Amino acid sequence: MTDVAPRLPLAARALSTRVLSVPPSGIRRFFDIAASMEDVISLGVGEPDFATPPQVIEAGIASLRAERTHYTSNYGTLELRRALADHLERRYGVRYDPATEILVTVGASEAVDLALRATIDPGDEVILHEPSYVAYVPAVVFAGGVVRHVATRFEDDFALDPAAVEAAITPRTKALFVGYPCNPTGAVLPAAVQDELAAIADRHDLLVYSDEIYDRLAYGDYRHRAMSALPGMRERTILMGGFSKAYAMTGWRVGYLCAPASILEGIVKVHQYAIMSAPTTAQDAALAAIATAEADVEAMRAEYDRRRRLLVDGLNALGLATFEPRGAFYAFPRITATGLDDEAFVERLLAEEHVAAVPGSAFGPSGAGHVRMCYATSHAKLEEALERIGRFVARPRR
Ligand SMILES: Cc1ncc(COP(=O)(O)O)c(C=O)c1O
Repeated sequence: MTDVAPRLPLAARALSTRVLSVPPSGIRRFFDIAASMEDVISLGVGEPDFATPPQVIEAGIASLRAERTHYTSNYGTLELRRALADHLERRYGVRYDPATEILVTVGASEAVDLALRATIDPGDEVILHEPSYVAYVPAVVFAGGVVRHVATRFEDDFALDPAAVEAAITPRTKALFVGYPCNPTGAVLPAAVQDELAAIADRHDLLVYSDEIYDRLAYGDYRHRAMSALPGMRERTILMGGFSKAYAMTGWRVGYLCAPASILEGIVKVHQYAIMSAPTTAQDAALAAIATAEADVEAMRAEYDRRRRLLVDGLNALGLATFEPRGAFYAFPRITATGLDDEAFVERLLAEEHVAAVPGSAFGPSGAGHVRMCYATSHAKLEEALERIGRFVARPRR
């Protein structure tokens, strides 16, 4: 009889080391506390307070009534892919073939996951700016990759420094990940910086993942350019986007991914085995969104802009230094003047004044000392939130 080494109970060894190495989202914890309280003003969740435009909802209902209750092509409906191809060409001057270069996904979330799983081998390095969206690091880790962070700082308006990106490149670097306009900072990529990043990607032959889900939420004189529209970039860029933010469609779960046919072919494999196809109802609604909701997108954007002014000016007036965000719908005030760290600030603000926000360190080490406040909530609620935050910061503490 051979000796068998004693094994841990299954429950203790069920999860993979990759999964165990990723902490739970730093965002969710506070939402659970906030959900158990009354009278909370939430600046926490990053989603529009608007409902989906009514004609888009009707299109979803009509789709169901027409009994469009089956799978679609793995790629998504051809109608939606054609509409997306025209839309991207019209807005950014980059053309994708609807038959072979566009995949409809379950939100930009799935697009991010697919892009990494289809392209990363164990040990491949991905350069990623931080603070940045909480799902990026786990997506790299679950794919077996290694994140090389590049810090962005309040002192530089959270601008990405191309020299720092280049300095982070090693022989193992496979790709650069950019998510701009940026969640949580609201920073954008100025044209000159984007051009330099493109030149670096070309010089070092890097793949570029570009999450452009906030492309439509741009303010002031900032004009979004798709990364893949830059000269030479189409062949090395995986463009990801979605309907959640601009069209107020978070719950429908529909997004997209565009890449050269040879890359998309592999990405579709992962999607077809894991997902099959994005929800049919949501795809039909997304088609209506592209076709009919331009005025709605602009009206929502203009309202976010008004709220942005209120919140950014209000926070600065309270002594919480806040850089001017030019994209997305987040303010990222520095809260160090209160003497609290970002976790304590968020915990106490919630407990004492019932305002929910997210600690900046949830988005990367350089987010420490900041909190993310989402201004996709009504003007009146933001005014009330500012009053409460004002009371909070003025309160003497030991
Ligand atoms: C930067 C960024 N990318 C992707 C997503 C996911 O969006 P979707 O609802 O399309 O999955 C979010 C949602 O907060 C986000 O902020």
